[in-house]
Parts: sequence; C-alpha cells; structure tokens
Amino acid sequence: MFVPTLLWWLQSSVLPERRIADIFDPHATPGAAEKNIAMLVIAICGGIFLVVGGLIVYTIWRFRRREGDDSQQEPAQVYGSNQIEVAWTVIPILIVFVLIGVSARVIAGVQNASPPKSMLKVKVIGHQWWWSVEYPDYGIVTANEIHVPVAVAGESATYLQLESQDVIHSFWVPQLAGKFDLIPNRTNYMWLDPQQPGVYFGNCAEYCGTQHANMLIRLVAQPKAEFDRWAAAERKPAAVSGSAAHGKAVYESLPCVSCHAVQGTSSAGKFGPDLTHLMSRQTLGAGVVTNTRTNLRAWINDPQKMKPGALMPSMNLTSTQLDEVVAYLETLN
Ligand code: CUA
Repeated sequence: MFVPTLLWWLQSSVLPERRIADIFDPHATPGAAEKNIAMLVIAICGGIFLVVGGLIVYTIWRFRRREGDDSQQEPAQVYGSNQIEVAWTVIPILIVFVLIGVSARVIAGVQNASPPKSMLKVKVIGHQWWWSVEYPDYGIVTANEIHVPVAVAGESATYLQLESQDVIHSFWVPQLAGKFDLIPNRTNYMWLDPQQPGVYFGNCAEYCGTQHANMLIRLVAQPKAEFDRWAAAERKPAAVSGSAAHGKAVYESLPCVSCHAVQGTSSAGKFGPDLTHLMSRQTLGAGVVTNTRTNLRAWINDPQKMKPGALMPSMNLTSTQLDEVVAYLETLN
C-alpha cells in the first residue's frame, strides 16, 4: 500500500514508533473476519459506483447534443415509471439488509466466540494519555507495551479487560481486531489471537484530549517461551543496584513517588505509569520518543516539551538531581 508506506516513511524519520498498521493485512481471527467484511462492502459499493458512474457516462455520451439538433426542443418527458421506482427502492433495501446481516453475523461471531482452552487475561486501563497494562494472573503491572504469547487459532487467545481511569478511550490495534471503547465505570471485554510473532502497533481511536494522538500501543506477540521469560523478568521486584543507591534516595525524596510506583520501594503512586521495569520498555511518554538515556533525561526535565499537555509536570530538578534520578531509573530493567 503506497499511502501507508509514505506515511510510515514520513513519520519514522522523527518518531520511531509511528508505524501505520495495514488493516488489509490482518494477523488475528477478529481482524481477518473484519477484513473480509470490509472487502465485501468495498466490492458491493465499488459495483454500485461502477453501475451508477457507467450509466451517467453512457447517458452523457449517448444523449449529447448533435449536429442539426433543435436547441429549443425539450427531451421526451417521462412522468414516473412504477417499475423503475420499485427497482430503485427495493434493490437498495436488499443491499442494506445484506450488509446489516453480514455485519451482525461477524460481530456476533467475534463477540460470542467461546473462550479457547488456553487464555491469557490482560487488564488494560486507559489514562490521559497512556495505557496501564496489568496481568492479574502474573502480578505484573506495566504500561503502553502489551506482551502476549503467539496464539493458535481456536486454541489460545488473549482476553483484554478494558477500563478507563478518566474519559472514553478506544483500543485499536488494526491488524488484530476492531476498535473497542474503554469507558469510565464500565468494563468491556475483547479478545485477540495474533498468529505471527511481531510488534503490532495501535492507537487510541477515540478523541480523549490534547494528547489523544500520543497514546500509542505496542503489542508484542512472541513465542510462548519468550513470553514466559519476559513475564518472569517483569515479576521480579525492582532491581536494587548499589551504585544507584544515591539516585534511588533522591528519587524517593521527590514528589515523583506520589504518581509512580516502583515495586518494593516506598514509591507506590498509581496516577502515572509503573516504573518497576521501565527500561524493559521501548518508548517513553506512550510512544513519543524512544527510551534512551538522553530522551529519558529530557523527558524528566520537562515532559511538556515532548508531550505538551501531558499530566506529568516538570519538577524543576537541578542538573545533579536529574543525573541521579536518571542513573537510578536506568537500573530498573
Ligand atoms: Cu485516549 Cu484518545
């Protein structure tokens, strides 16, 4: 697809995480079912376009003004035709009912699919403007990156429990499944079964405030053994490194701890992303920049520069404090 490729190229030079996912290249059961119905709709609408457009072109050509036409003469006047009126009423109604029927069948098929033998439960909570990701069965809390094992259609899948902390968001990983809203005070469920390992990019698909465009999802589908290794690493308490002990003390003395959690320390805030294994994640600010030392330092120094409107304020740290906090956070792998 030319346009997605162009967009990818334009964006990738600045922001490494902005791949445009191709909805016509699904890698999971719900996404494939939805692609098929999209193709059917495109085919039917394309057919209507060709018939209507063809008739217009034919009529314009066939009844064009010719040499010797009387410019005063009106064309033959036709006052109604029951056959034609019945045809253009009944045919569109039939088409609409076919489309409704097929859509309803696919939606019901996806939503009512019985859970497979093996399923991973993941709780995704939408926040302005990032995703909290919890694995209740594993005791893992992370953010913006969702690791799942590669699925076998009909045998294993990942079930997402969708909630919102503030306003309505919408979870959308185009190659895996359709959009699903995260609504305050309500729990929604969706499932996906990525059948090929890889990183699937997604976005928030419901306008939710200033940084709506910057709450990216990286869904990493990996072979079971690799997933298990990732999960085991994420379950461990935060690393305690002697060399960063001073940085840890500085971090714990700052207001950062009232919003962020680092398991096993006094930092237990819930408002911002969990930092226990911060360095295992590829991006900062839900996909605005790659997670490098320089970016991390710049982000903590002033998040508003990288993500204007983000709810994390600048703490006006001194250069020394910044270095120490970054040195500590860098050990959280
Ligand atoms: Cu969250 Cu848009």
